[in-house]
Amino acid sequence: MNGVRELPEDCTTVDLADPWFFRHHDQYELWRRLRAEHPVFWTEPGEDRPGFWSVTRFEDVQRVYRDNRRFTSERGNVLTTLLAGGDSAAGMMLAVSDGERHRELRNVMLKAFSPRFLRSVELRVRDMADRLIHQVVDGGGDFAAEVAEKIPMGTICHLLGVPESDQAYLLTLTKSALSSEHEDATEEAAVRARNEILLYFLDLLDGIRKTPREGAIAALADGAVGGRPLTEEEIVFNCYSLVIGGDETSRLSMIGAVHALAEHPEQWRLLRAGEVGTDTAVDEVLRWTTPAMHFGRTTLEEVTIGPRTIGPGSVVVLWNTSANRDEEVFEEPDRFLLSRAANRHLTFGYGPHFCIGAQLGRAEVGAVLDALRTHASALELTGEPHRVHSNFLNGFSTLPVAFTPA
Ligand code: HEM
Repeated sequence: MNGVRELPEDCTTVDLADPWFFRHHDQYELWRRLRAEHPVFWTEPGEDRPGFWSVTRFEDVQRVYRDNRRFTSERGNVLTTLLAGGDSAAGMMLAVSDGERHRELRNVMLKAFSPRFLRSVELRVRDMADRLIHQVVDGGGDFAAEVAEKIPMGTICHLLGVPESDQAYLLTLTKSALSSEHEDATEEAAVRARNEILLYFLDLLDGIRKTPREGAIAALADGAVGGRPLTEEEIVFNCYSLVIGGDETSRLSMIGAVHALAEHPEQWRLLRAGEVGTDTAVDEVLRWTTPAMHFGRTTLEEVTIGPRTIGPGSVVVLWNTSANRDEEVFEEPDRFLLSRAANRHLTFGYGPHFCIGAQLGRAEVGAVLDALRTHASALELTGEPHRVHSNFLNGFSTLPVAFTPA
């Protein structure tokens, strides 16, 4: 990481809402200190935002994820929306719905994740990873642009039923909608990108209603919640959530995988030699990279988390990046160990909102690891990677790397 700065003496004064913090500090050092000294701590309100609670220990984070009776997702589930006072898709989009509506909507969306359809999506992922990694191993370059940008978007477009010709356009929009590659990117640009994604799906829905096909958009268009068909707005919000949920997270985990393998040559040798199974390795990559740093909730009543009692209506942020390095749960948590057993990381969350795309996310990372071990015998970084500018996403947006072909 470029220009890592020292943490302040009192760690609780750090502003975790500010993306700048994550770019210039070692967050893992911060979490280690917070888990030990202030496992649940309060960040004071800023000029233009309310204060919020942060939860850093694995057991506490897991307990809050599980409890959708005393904690709601309907007032937002990421810092940006939680601190802005809500999410405009509340009650309509899966991730920001609760209770019976959430359960019914999840069942509608699960139709797009049937084992048969998932299998066909996974086969495409393997083909795509194999072809792209073969190319990049021969030519080298930026792994993010040459490989990682293409696989998740290709996968989600297939899942949704989006034509291949529209992928590049959607990718440009998703990159500005969530994280950003540039520190000077504005929130207005992000809002504009989000709106354009919604408009895109509105157009697509119109076409799909006329000629129904397989895929998530079709499943949503045919679905019903509360005894009535989904509205156009609900359909479009949930398409958006699949793109936003599945693109950048998967992308960051595969970029992070290559980065970690280059930095840990002994682990790369294990993988290459087939001494560690792909599934086990995938879980360690997911724990190590934790692409979604946090999710959040709002308390519906007074709750006690660890040593703190928190009033109703409070914003509570669950730091996955901290929970996944909790020394109470993971032995030697700061080591990247591809053979790590019983790896119960929280990278995909936990409980009722557990990631609906987890199997796809795993398949994508697994396809990349398998293609790397088939096509490359060695890999090394050829420049500094560039960290995304975000308080939500974790990882690198560029990764210059050179491979030795197998
Ligand atoms: C939910 C992470 C891949 C779609 C979640 C949650 C996490 C997460 C932590 C829980 C959110 C909460 O509790 O508020 C990840 C990571 C991924 C990934 C790290 C990749 C490595 C995907 C993919 C898709 C997807 C590929 C879609 C194809 C969703 C959706 C939800 C969700 C729609 C909401 C589920 C619900 O509220 O019931 N994801 N995800 N994710 N994810 Fe993923």
